[in-house]
Amino acid sequence: MICENLDLKKVPAIRVADLCFQWPSGAEVLRSCSLEVPKGEFWMLLGTNGSGKSTLLRLLANLLTPASGDVEIAGSVGFVFQNPDHQLVMPTVGADVAFGLVRERLSFVQIRDRVREALAAVNLLELERRPIYALSGGQKQRIAIAGAIAGHCEVLLCDEPTALLDPDSQLDLVAQVRHLVKTRGMTALWVTHRLDELDYCDGAFLLEGGKVVAQGDPETLKKRSTDCEKNSQS
Ligand SMILES: Nc1ncnc2c1ncn2[C@@H]1O[C@H](COP(=O)(O)OP(=O)(O)O)[C@@H](O)[C@H]1O
Ligand SMILES: [Mg+2]
Repeated sequence: MICENLDLKKVPAIRVADLCFQWPSGAEVLRSCSLEVPKGEFWMLLGTNGSGKSTLLRLLANLLTPASGDVEIAGSVGFVFQNPDHQLVMPTVGADVAFGLVRERLSFVQIRDRVREALAAVNLLELERRPIYALSGGQKQRIAIAGAIAGHCEVLLCDEPTALLDPDSQLDLVAQVRHLVKTRGMTALWVTHRLDELDYCDGAFLLEGGKVVAQGDPETLKKRSTDCEKNSQS
């Protein structure tokens, strides 16, 4: 009987409870914010500009320290920023994907295999020797994701990774990340304000006034988010 109940309850890979944060200079950004993303699912985070989405993601990645509350992440974290030019640091694709592995004390062959496996996962194996400057914006974001996969991240945090992409590469990228989540048992939390991306997620959160005010079904969230944008503009 107990086992049946456990099966029904989804295990969270990301758990945030009563998180509070305030920048030294300003007002409170997060006020007792709570959310859970089940393991193996792809969830999105919506909210108006300045609602604290990037701050929340940085707290999840341990890049900031909360004033109070708990963050629990099951497994290692990969982070993809809005602007890939702030993330890709090496001159070529292969060297960049290998860069994050330096800390792991792997042999040359192990690094090469990890890089190739990660590039294959984002369908860019043929670009291994390509200079970073010769990539499109969508390709750069996929290289940033390959870097996280090479490091065997289990939880992927993406902060508006499609903000600078054209509509075609935007939807390609979101479909690719959904595929990675579903085939590799990863968990992802993806910040966006482009509502057409919600068609690809398992669920979404709406952040407002420093806390999650709505969550769950993507269709319902689409409507709530549109209303929220309208209110913030009027
Ligand atoms: N480094 C910082 N120092 C001080 N305030 C910041 C900093 N980064 C963001 N903020 C403020 O925190 C609030 C939330 O910002 P942010 O998390 O970037 O929102 P979002 O990603 O939802 O647009 C905003 O009021 C913003 O001005
Ligand atoms: Mg932001």
